[in-house]
Amino acid sequence: MRIAIGSDHAGLALKQELVRWLGEAGYECQDFGTHSTASCDYPDFARAVGEAVASGEFERGILVCGTGIGVSITANKVPGVRAAVCLDTFSARMSREHNDANVLCLGSRVVGVGLAQDLADIWLRTPFSGDERHSRRIRKIAEVEQAACAR
Ligand code: RB5
Repeated sequence: MRIAIGSDHAGLALKQELVRWLGEAGYECQDFGTHSTASCDYPDFARAVGEAVASGEFERGILVCGTGIGVSITANKVPGVRAAVCLDTFSARMSREHNDANVLCLGSRVVGVGLAQDLADIWLRTPFSGDERHSRRIRKIAEVEQAACAR
């Protein structure tokens, strides 16, 4: 599975840990930055990862900022992206089973490395349930996007 990953300065250290761990677990990761601890703007990296996933080049994306909130707000503006902030394992699983989330957002100031690895592991391995009611709701999300894009 190809994963696009990105962070701002606040998420850099956790992202680097995840890149190393994901590589060992056999995932193919491309890091869209940031690559330094210098203060930067999370929308730049959330947009790049969101567009990489929406284009179909990458199956999933992972974004890290201080809280996970800024990157999720940004990534969800990219049509086709369903980004979920997950700070607990139940949410990580449900975001896949019910929402077919394609971008995982983590908060480096909220979760430690161990929990972040568990969250990523569960999120990457859990399939979408495929239930019609969940598919219908996801189609409705896409309709909201289409209506916004047409305005
Ligand atoms: C950076 O200080 C911080 O605002 C950012 O990482 C993120 O938490 C925003 O949502």
